[in-house]
Amino acid sequence: MVVGAWPWARVVARVVMRGRLGARSGTCDFALMIETADGGGRANDAPRPENAYGIRDGEVAAALPDRFDASLYFIGHIRTPWHRREECPKNARGSDAACTIALDPRWSSGLKGLETASHVIVLYWMDQARRDLVLQVPRHYAEQRGTFALRSPARPNPIALSVARIVRIDGNELTVVGLDCLDNTPLLDIKPYFASTDSVPDAIVGWHADRKR
Ligand SMILES: C[S@@+](CC[C@H](N)C(=O)[O-])C[C@H]1O[C@@H](n2cnc3c(N)ncnc32)[C@H](O)[C@@H]1O
Repeated sequence: MVVGAWPWARVVARVVMRGRLGARSGTCDFALMIETADGGGRANDAPRPENAYGIRDGEVAAALPDRFDASLYFIGHIRTPWHRREECPKNARGSDAACTIALDPRWSSGLKGLETASHVIVLYWMDQARRDLVLQVPRHYAEQRGTFALRSPARPNPIALSVARIVRIDGNELTVVGLDCLDNTPLLDIKPYFASTDSVPDAIVGWHADRKR
């Protein structure tokens, strides 16, 4: 069952009936389990008004599917100096600010070996973004493009990716440089960055290269 008015704040509720439904005594004993669309954490929060995503001229929204296909675990959260979208760097190279990745302590031992790496790929959940845009007109480009031709946080699954430099690892906390998200953004995954396989120095995005000429 899908409840919730905003497409980007939908909540999937699953009702689990358990125990007795005693007709004679009139007792009704059941458990109600709410599974949030985003898998927990801040998922029940509506986007904060100061970070609301509207829809611009030329932008097109798609009807979202009625149900989700998978669930996620947020494995921590990211502490950054930025509290409003307009304060955030536009991309991972936009600031030298140190940010803290606070991993849920249950996953701390998963960092074993990462101290030998210089850079990590960080995957995070843009929890304030809308999820229904299929064509977008980003403010700083002002031209209509498809969601999958853009790095916009507004996408059906608002997963962001950045390559960040590790400054230090201290218990369950990583200090890194190279993130562009709001304070408290949920963390999805951390992977070592392999320059040997992840770097494609001659890759191009034509519309962006053209724009720079
Ligand atoms: C253009 S996206 C790029 C994200 C990532 N580096 C990527 O390429 O996938 C970065 C922008 O997302 C917005 N943003 C940051 N944190 C957000 C959050 N938690 N929810 C929604 N939007 C967010 C800010 O406007 C920020 O400048």
